[in-house]
Amino acid sequence: MEDQAERLREIVRQRGPAGFVGGVTPSGGPFAAVTGPVENGKPAGTGRNHRSREGKARIITITSGKGGVGKTNLSVNLALAYARLGKKVVVMDADLGLANVNVILDVIPKYNLYHVIRKQKTMRDILVETDYGISIVPGASGFSQIANMNDDERQNFINELETLSVADIIIIDTSAGVSSNVMDFIAAADDAVIVTTPEPTAITDAYGIIKIIATEYETPNMGLKLVVNRVKSVAEAKKVADRMINIAGQFLNLKVDYLGFVYDDVMVSNAVLRQRPFMVIDPKCKASLCVQHIVDRMEKSDHRASGGFGAMLNRLFGKKN
Ligand SMILES: Nc1ncnc2c1ncn2[C@@H]1O[C@H](COP(=O)(O)OP(=O)(O)O)[C@@H](O)[C@H]1O
Ligand SMILES: [Mg+2]
Repeated sequence: MEDQAERLREIVRQRGPAGFVGGVTPSGGPFAAVTGPVENGKPAGTGRNHRSREGKARIITITSGKGGVGKTNLSVNLALAYARLGKKVVVMDADLGLANVNVILDVIPKYNLYHVIRKQKTMRDILVETDYGISIVPGASGFSQIANMNDDERQNFINELETLSVADIIIIDTSAGVSSNVMDFIAAADDAVIVTTPEPTAITDAYGIIKIIATEYETPNMGLKLVVNRVKSVAEAKKVADRMINIAGQFLNLKVDYLGFVYDDVMVSNAVLRQRPFMVIDPKCKASLCVQHIVDRMEKSDHRASGGFGAMLNRLFGKKN
């Protein structure tokens, strides 16, 4: 086991961040970097030095109580906004049911996390480098297997996940609701972004998730953040956010930060139909500007800075090893 872990670390050391579509640069027009041509899996233009500190990837989970509130769209477009800042970004699809991330990026991956868990493939084998300067980890059917790993598979899986630490940002798009696999990831992440819409059902379910996080996990400094999606006005978003933040504070003694909102924008559904991210199709549409704003807020906000993926994995799996 030791040998295998060491070997993987060595591979990561040798490979460095080059396994990712890195080097995207904010210069050269709004989306020159993320939409630019890709040669041999890397963007044609060379970027600046964005060599990441290995093991210090910021891990952001995107979750919600109710399905269909916009998690996958936020995950992918947030990733693009980060890439635009010159970050190396990986989006992990942790939706148990549907391979959403692939669909909205129009990629059909051959393998997913299932193959990594079963030791048939490495993380590097399954990682898909998209034309947009972000990489994705297809996860759909694999994620449900996480609970069923034996010790050997678990250790191998941890080693494989660790290889992702060369990224700057890892965004985990989770399925809605309360699956224990997903909840563990949320509780272990640096930032947990909860998405809701102004619909009363979405708000109630979002509160449900926050409540579970507050009661089932020891997360005193949990970086819980709220995004209100599909709003008609700033005031509507603020009203929803204030309500949730007050309730969480009052009844759960839990701090939730308001990260921002995304307007209800027909560009989002258009983009889904065209299977291209709205940030790429129209970087200046209302939804894109909102996502840009959210990334700016993220960059300024505190996060747990808990030591990156390695530390997260220890929190996730440490108790079982
Ligand atoms: N800001 C928005 N404006 C308009 N439509 C949106 C917006 N966000 C999401 N949608 C619509 O909701 C659908 C579901 O979004 P999706 O990101 O797949 O949700 P989830 O991942 O939470 O299930 C999208 O296909 C789109 O049609
Ligand atoms: Mg989804």
